[in-house]
Amino acid sequence: MNSPKFEKFATYESERLNLRGITIGDADNLVRWRSHEDVYRYALDPRPITHTEHATWFSKYMKNEQSYRAIITEKITGKDIGMIGGECEGEVFVISTNIGEPEFRGMGYASEATSILISLLKKKNVSKIRANIHKDNAATISYLCKSGFIEKDLCNSHDNSNYKVMEYTFL
Ligand SMILES: CC(C)(COP(=O)(O)OP(=O)(O)OC[C@H]1O[C@@H](n2cnc3c(N)ncnc32)[C@H](O)[C@@H]1OP(=O)(O)O)[C@@H](O)C(=O)NCCC(=O)NCCS
Repeated sequence: MNSPKFEKFATYESERLNLRGITIGDADNLVRWRSHEDVYRYALDPRPITHTEHATWFSKYMKNEQSYRAIITEKITGKDIGMIGGECEGEVFVISTNIGEPEFRGMGYASEATSILISLLKKKNVSKIRANIHKDNAATISYLCKSGFIEKDLCNSHDNSNYKVMEYTFL
């Protein structure tokens, strides 16, 4: 099967949230969120990022039809609160999420945004969604469990032993 393609500027919604594809205008928020110590400390590359690095990444992202990243906006306030998205590797979509604005954490928003993504990926015939998670990242593990992700057998985990793989499998 060919990897699914995504409309970069597509928008989606749920009861409390809007998702809209990221643009270059979101650079300040994306760099700021990714550079919070509580976000980057569990990342595969655990350090803050610069605007220059983001601009290089964004230009590659725009050319990659298998990748979709969205800004999560809280409907009631209109505030941009985080990012969700990822890219397809064959039939598997590798997901990454952050609620970059700390006061919006613990409200179930990551699960709600993930439900939107699950509905989208179902229509794209993706077979699995995969997350590579640091074993100490309890908040993300908890939210992924609530979203229907299951920890994979350790022998299939990421090479780095500090990480585990969690997957959502479409029936
Ligand atoms: C991890 C994260 C994506 C979860 O999203 P969320 O919308 O807050 O998820 P939930 O509301 O379902 O809460 C999930 C867990 O977050 C933790 N949490 C709750 N309130 C929190 C708060 N105010 N601040 C930080 N973490 C909180 C709890 O451990 C909660 O687990 P519980 O269900 O057992 O109570 C989000 O909190 C986030 O981006 N945090 C930044 C730090 C981080 O760990 N990022 C992942 C780096 S890769």
